[in-house]
Amino acid sequence: MDIVDLVNGKTTSFMLFGRPVFHSFSPVLQNTIAKALNVNTIYTAVNVDNLEAAVKGAYAMRIKGINVTVPYKEEVMPLLCGIDKKAEAIGAVNTLKYTENGYYGYNTDIIGLTMSLKLQGIDIKGKTVVVLGAGGAARAAVTMALTEGAAKTYIVNRTRKNAEAIRDNVLKYYDGEVYVCGYSQLDDIEGELIIIQTTSVGMGEGVYESPIKDNKIFERTAALVDIIYNPMETKIMADAWIYGVPTANGLDMLIYQGIASFEIWTGFKIDDKTKLKIRDRLRLYYEREKK
Ligand code: ATR
Repeated sequence: MDIVDLVNGKTTSFMLFGRPVFHSFSPVLQNTIAKALNVNTIYTAVNVDNLEAAVKGAYAMRIKGINVTVPYKEEVMPLLCGIDKKAEAIGAVNTLKYTENGYYGYNTDIIGLTMSLKLQGIDIKGKTVVVLGAGGAARAAVTMALTEGAAKTYIVNRTRKNAEAIRDNVLKYYDGEVYVCGYSQLDDIEGELIIIQTTSVGMGEGVYESPIKDNKIFERTAALVDIIYNPMETKIMADAWIYGVPTANGLDMLIYQGIASFEIWTGFKIDDKTKLKIRDRLRLYYEREKK
């Protein structure tokens, strides 16, 4: 069908605010969801120069749903009428929902990550979770570990103070055992591990690298999730796979955070079967695009 047949005066607009946004997968993702559900919505990505003006303008236009991406996920927080507790604990918002009082903020990265683990059959309740890295994505991973009931969570990072800042913030919102250590202390972490890789090592210039140098740790790793999805298999995933560790990349996290945003905006509860159908379409699309 042609765009002219799809977009009309009743179409609801959703938007992505970021800078730059030209590489974003979100328009494909959100418009695929709309197509699968046969609803009259459209999603576009916009380059935003002035975030405050953009949020006010969108509210004046009654834009019902907005995603916020780099570099605005933190800057947007004071512009909102309220923020979900998990998003507060993460310290970043990626989804705005229109309400009578202003935009309310959520973080659906955490929902995406939780779903991606569930799809792999990984349950972190009572387990030891090791988060590699202490950037934005690590904050979602650590918050998820606590909210999903991990027994112990370790933040492993080059720069100790960045890991400590995540620990200190998340413990203001949730109880749990959170420890900070460096890569040289990985061996001291006891028991079977679930590793969540959130550093940038494994993509771009570091595509042939892994943040873990001693692969013996994979002998007692129950599962590994890398939040990178380009490449589809990172060096750390390949290394872990040799030891028989089940691995997953970040594509499901990406897909399910988008589905969660759509559900928040529309109030729809998309059933699991339809979600899987959307996921399959997007995986196919993504794999074709990568070729
Ligand atoms: P994002 O917000 O996307 O998660 P980020 O804030 O740039 O990304 O965070 C990148 C993370 O990758 C940081 O934890 C960084 O470690 P430092 O806090 O020590 O800087 C980590 N990182 C980057 N390059 C790394 C490398 N070569 N080895 C280990 N960790 C690395």
